[in-house]
Amino acid sequence: MSIVTDIESLALRPDSSVAVLTGAGISAESGIHTFRDAGGIWEQYDLEEVATEPGFLQDPVRAWKLYSKLRAHASACKPNAAHTALATLEERLEERGRFTLITQNVDGLHQKAGSRNVIPIHGSLFMSRCSNHECPAAGAPFEDETDYGDHSPECPRCGRPLRPHVVWFGEYLDPALEQASRDAVLDCDVFIAVGTSGVVYPAAGYVFAASSVGARTVLVNLDPPENLSRFNEFHPGKAAEILPTLLDFPG
Ligand code: OAD
Repeated sequence: MSIVTDIESLALRPDSSVAVLTGAGISAESGIHTFRDAGGIWEQYDLEEVATEPGFLQDPVRAWKLYSKLRAHASACKPNAAHTALATLEERLEERGRFTLITQNVDGLHQKAGSRNVIPIHGSLFMSRCSNHECPAAGAPFEDETDYGDHSPECPRCGRPLRPHVVWFGEYLDPALEQASRDAVLDCDVFIAVGTSGVVYPAAGYVFAASSVGARTVLVNLDPPENLSRFNEFHPGKAAEILPTLLDFPG
């Protein structure tokens, strides 16, 4: 693994197959809190209470207070230069290459920046679904931008609490999204992870899959993450400062 401090283009070819994994760090410069950095979300809130199903069911109002706040905040935030650089790369690879953006973020900023082939493996802040597994509406997430404030919304079909359509601790990823992510990683020749601490699986393991097929593995992150040694190259620093140059096409 080499640490690259000069910010230079990765010199990607127009026929490259690129898979990107992003985490909370890419949105930090848009004003969105990360989870595990100092002052991050898991320092401010008890993860068991607001990011597990039992915690939610114990007190849905408590969880919705947080998710309504995150929803309102994310909808007011704008994509930064790192989001834009990825959307531009996707456009440039459109003709001859392949591009997949796997994101753990639920803030919608990649889509706002114009990225199209996005796999939101941890769901979306802007969708809700019924929390009752027995209700047909549990399998039918819907777009929902409502700020519920101090209120917990109810499912119109069964009356039980609606929940945010995000993946909580102890829950499985949507199998179709998980499969699409794995396929993209196993099919790439360049894998780029951006702004993620490498502790939450299965996303933290995608670099192993990319290495197993001989892909070049590149990491852009402010601090060295847990899975640092698995990458070929580490570009330390802020995503918005590094990515526009790193992803620039030569010539
Ligand atoms: P974390 O908060 O765990 O990690 C954010 C990473 O971004 C850290 O390694 C920082 O060093 C880095 N970082 C911070 N600012 C940055 C910047 N400007 N540019 C580049 N890197 C920066 O966030 P995630 O890895 O995304 O899951 O967390 C993974 C999952 O854990 C989240 O999706 C969420 C959380 O619990 C669920 O809620 C299921």
